[in-house]
Parts: sequence; structure tokens; C-alpha cells
Amino acid sequence: MHCVRKLKDDLFWVGADDIRLAMFEGVYAVPKGVSYNSYLLLDEKTVLFDTVDKAVGRIFFENVRHALGGRPLDYLVVHHMEPDHSATLTELMAFYPETKIVCNKKTLAMINQFYGIDAAGRAVIVAEGDALRIGNRSLSFHMAPMVHWPEVMVTYDSLNKVLFSADAFGVFGALNGAVFADEVDFDRNYLDECRRYYTNIVGKYGAQVENLLKKAAALDIEMICPLHGFVWRENIGYIIDKYNKWSSYTPEESGVLIAYASIYGNTENAAEIVAFKLREKGVKSVMYDVSVTDPSEILSQCFKYSHLVFASATYNAGIFIKMDALLRDIAAHNLQNRTVGLIQNGSWAPSSAKLMREILAPLKNLDILEKILTVNSSLKEEQLAEVEAFAEIIAQTF
Ligand code: FEO
Repeated sequence: MHCVRKLKDDLFWVGADDIRLAMFEGVYAVPKGVSYNSYLLLDEKTVLFDTVDKAVGRIFFENVRHALGGRPLDYLVVHHMEPDHSATLTELMAFYPETKIVCNKKTLAMINQFYGIDAAGRAVIVAEGDALRIGNRSLSFHMAPMVHWPEVMVTYDSLNKVLFSADAFGVFGALNGAVFADEVDFDRNYLDECRRYYTNIVGKYGAQVENLLKKAAALDIEMICPLHGFVWRENIGYIIDKYNKWSSYTPEESGVLIAYASIYGNTENAAEIVAFKLREKGVKSVMYDVSVTDPSEILSQCFKYSHLVFASATYNAGIFIKMDALLRDIAAHNLQNRTVGLIQNGSWAPSSAKLMREILAPLKNLDILEKILTVNSSLKEEQLAEVEAFAEIIAQTF
């Protein structure tokens, strides 16, 4: 049976939750599932915004059919071609053969590229700022390339003052009945997953996200409808502020994140003593074992904190595998504007600090402290002053 929620008198959420998905995009664990959002607007013309992943196709089509109430579907707006939103596109085109596909040129090419369909005969091609009259209102279309793919665009409904924002403002986690962000304790229960979603999916493209935020700032927005997670109708400034910080690589919190790679606990010991010393100096410190915590979570937390310390054993004359993967992930996601400290361990040829520095050095505005802390197999009591000095150098940068 259908499972639909009314967002406005003429606007309905017709998406679906996927609770059983283990790995989003095959790489990001989603223990609380994910939602694939689709929206149906009923004006003189009917407009569906995006389709959904194939895993939830059955309920999606029931929802669309129910919400249409026997009316034809006039338009499908395709904001984004990633298959979590387009895998049911060809089925929809078959079920509703009269429906026009509203998209940009890049999207049209991708429909063919993914699904082998030339949709040109059914397409209404739009470009930046174009408008489509659907009855009592016009919809306007705004390009948002690389948020998260090059074809991405968003739509603004000037009557309801709704922004259909594609991947932007999404969050991991199923909705479980709560469609609006104000129906949950978002800050306590969802902000971390929102940050993990943002940083891993579009964190690399801060400049492009800033471009979209500038376009959004020029619109009078009362509701944001993203492709994943909750709809925003209250406190929109809260999530815009988070996006402004994340897209400009501005830390949310003053403090030191210590990520460590420890084979037998000696590197962990050094990391933990530094964490304690920082707390004694009034500096917040948090710790992550890279062998235990998924890199997507640590990457996300690196976007949160102002200072980062990486502590790694030397392994095969390189960086310990899990730390190597984390640092390359951080570099791939273009993190900027941080102060970084390095701790290395090695029983005969410690070299991980130099190698970690090489991975991070190309990142913009990263202040990698010259002073490193070296552990030879295990930290010794006579190194206490050195550890103290290392923590003090970090504390002095606050
Ligand atoms: Fe949710 Fe980039 O797709």
C-alpha cells in the first residue's frame, strides 16, 4: 500500500526508506538506512521531482500512482542522474509514456549513457535560470555542477517557496515516518550523519557548494526538499550555517582530533598521553583508532575539528595501512584550514611522519607543525618532557 506524506496542500513526499542497505555507494556503512526522496507537485500540471533507487521501486510507484489520484503525470524533473535517484527512471518512462522529462543537456546524455535510451523526443531541456510554467506558478532551474555530479541542478518553486535541492542538505538515515527535520532532535541525533554524508559525498567540492549557496541566498526559501533525509521548513538558517562552514572548510569546533594507528598499543599509548596533556591544558581532545572506526566517520570528524594529530606506526617502510588510507581519503576530499601535528613510531627506521607529511602537504592552508613526536617501539619515562612540549606546541596554536 502507498506510504505518502503531505508537505504542502499541493506537494507530497512520495519517496521511500531503505533500511536494509548495508553500504551506500558500496562504501559508506548506513546502519540506520537511508531515504530516497521524491516529491510530487500538483498544479494545473503535475510534476514529479526525481525517481528512486531500484531497491524501493515498488513502493515508490504505488506512492506516485496514489498521489496523482488518477491524473496524468505531465513532467518528471531529473535533478541528478546517480542511480540512487535514477534507477527507476526507465520504468517510470514506460509507465507514463506521455510524461515530459525536464532536464539539462548533460542529464539527457547521461540518460542514454546509463540506460541506453534516447529521451530527446520527450525532453524539455533547461539551462541556468530557465522557467517552466505549470499553472499557478513557474518553476525555475538552477545548475549546481559537482554537487555532486556535473549534471546536477536544483529547482525553485516561487509559489510555495520551496527549493528542491538534489543531494545538497541530505543526511544518512531512514526517515521512519518523520519527514521534517523539526520532527526529530536533528542536532543531537542526525547532525553527525549529516556531516558524514556531506563530507564524504561532496566534501571535495567546497567551491561548487559555495556557488550553490550563493544562488540559494538570492531566493526566498521557506522549505528545502533534498534527495535524502529530512525536509527543512523551520530553522533553515541552522543547516545553511553548517553548509557554509563545511563548504569553506571552516572548523565547527575548536579542539584536537587525534587519529592513531597502533599495532600493539604503543602508538596508542603515545596518542592517549598527548590527549590527556591537551585536556590538562584546557584543550578539547578526541581520539579515533583508525583500525576500529570507519574512515568515513573520521574524515567527517576531521571537518569538524580545528586541529588534527595523526599518529602512526611505520609499517613496511611506509605508513600503517589504515592510516595511509585515511590520509589519502582526507587529501582526496580537499580538507583545508587546519593545524596538524604528527606522531610516528618505528622500531628500527621510523619514517611514517615524513610520509604522512608528504600526503598532507599539497592541501591548502594546512599548518603542519615542524615538531614531531617520535616513539621508538614504546614511549619511555624520560620522554615525558618531550611529550609535554609536543602537547604545549599544539596548545599554543589555539
Ligand atoms: Fe544521492 Fe549523488 O546521489
